[in-house]
Amino acid sequence: MSSTTPLLDVAGLTKHFPVKGGFPIRRTIGAVQAVDGLDFQVAEGESLGLVGESGCGKSTTGRLITRLLEPTAGKISYRGQDITHAGRKDLAPIRSEIQMIFQDPYASLNPRQTVGKIISGPMEINNIKPEGGREKRVRELLEIVGLNPEHYNRFPHEFSGGQRQRIGVARALALEPKLIVADEPVSALDVSIQAQVVNLLQQLQRDLGIAFVFIAHDLAVVRHFSQRVAVMYLGKIVEIADRDDLYGNPRHPYTRALLSAVPEATADETPARERIRLVGDVPSPISPPSGCRFRTRCWKATDKCASEAPPLVQVEGNKPGHLTACHYPETADTVPSPHLTKDPEAAA
Ligand SMILES: Nc1ncnc2c1ncn2[C@@H]1O[C@H](COP(=O)(O)OP(=O)(O)O)[C@@H](O)[C@H]1O
Ligand code: SF4
Ligand SMILES: [Mg+2]
Repeated sequence: MSSTTPLLDVAGLTKHFPVKGGFPIRRTIGAVQAVDGLDFQVAEGESLGLVGESGCGKSTTGRLITRLLEPTAGKISYRGQDITHAGRKDLAPIRSEIQMIFQDPYASLNPRQTVGKIISGPMEINNIKPEGGREKRVRELLEIVGLNPEHYNRFPHEFSGGQRQRIGVARALALEPKLIVADEPVSALDVSIQAQVVNLLQQLQRDLGIAFVFIAHDLAVVRHFSQRVAVMYLGKIVEIADRDDLYGNPRHPYTRALLSAVPEATADETPARERIRLVGDVPSPISPPSGCRFRTRCWKATDKCASEAPPLVQVEGNKPGHLTACHYPETADTVPSPHLTKDPEAAA
């Protein structure tokens, strides 16, 4: 494998869930276009943030790359190996290298198992026998994630939310993964605890060289964690860039709207970014808008936006690696139309 082969390479990744209907015979009458043609790479040890509103396809993407879901189309390569439709046997060695951390630490831990049992579970399933035994390894893992190794025999309900998420992290670490997909790992936690868990993940990324796909619904959480950030809208990546390029030079109107809601992102800038409040709801992924999917909420939409889907490309003014899917990319001095920055209900 050459050093330029990314750890994870996703091309045209698509997941459409069939929609059933009709009477008396139920048949497929449409599809939820949950994920529609994603292209991105994750380098070894890198952290990619995946951000977007609820329902835009983040979890589906996470479940596709961990192969918990079967893709409808596209290709997933892991260390150069095509795993798009790999079967159980071919996946076995890879399964241990790609782990997932879920949003709700409680729902993802078996309440009837001790912490020791939960964390050693993946080692048992994969028949991994660490030196000194599994119990010793579990105690080490508890220590790594900042829990007391003596709590080996306790049950999940005896821990706080933040501690439970640490248990989930320890379980994910048990197989020494190269890639962790963390699906909104701190969204369910108290704000005061969120930073601690993010810091832990960051420390693991640095110390153990684990690559992350870190899923979040706003840009604040991933800002300090991800070297690169992809913004999703209705099943598509609308912008992807190195962190500083994305936060400092957002070119897609949707990225700009998301950023305007991040207070800390504007603290060091003068003048402060105008708050952009998006009007209306996200359209249904069963029948997404033609052309640019963001056009029903975009203050700059034209006929072209309705007829032509903007490709995800390096538009003029972007640094290499900074890709934007918009016919009329934002510039630093673009001012969003004022009547669209207000909530229509508030004006009524
Ligand atoms: N198993 C499923 N069957 C049908 N639709 C699904 C399924 N899973 C997710 N969806 C739909 O796919 C879209 C994307 O969902 P999801 O990936 O969970 O978004 P996010 O994680 O960004 O909130 C949503 O419209 C959701 O309702
Ligand atoms: S392509 Fe058009 S509708 Fe889509 S984000 Fe750009 S300006 Fe807005
Ligand atoms: Mg989700």
